[in-house]
Amino acid sequence: MRLALVNHDGVICAVDGDCPHAGGPLGEGQPGSGCVLACPWHEAVFDVTSGAPLRGPARKPVRTYQVRVADGVVQVALPMEPTPAKRMDPTTHDRKGT
Ligand code: FES
Repeated sequence: MRLALVNHDGVICAVDGDCPHAGGPLGEGQPGSGCVLACPWHEAVFDVTSGAPLRGPARKPVRTYQVRVADGVVQVALPMEPTPAKRMDPTTHDRKGT
């Protein structure tokens, strides 16, 4: 997972590091005036507070994350991903699970 952090006048915003258009590296993008970030590949522009695309070619929003700064450390709240169900290989296990 990659994140892009934008510091706008001391307010730090975190968005997905992969552009929703074609996966460009948003962390290498150019912050603009206001809370915006331009993708370096095709120059889509996003509002990093809402994730909304402000200029194409991206049409989908970029995912945003909650950020807080505690004792000078930037903390980003990442969503809990569901644990994939453990599957058994029926060719190597019998019904007793051995
Ligand atoms: S990959 Fe970001 S605008 Fe195309």
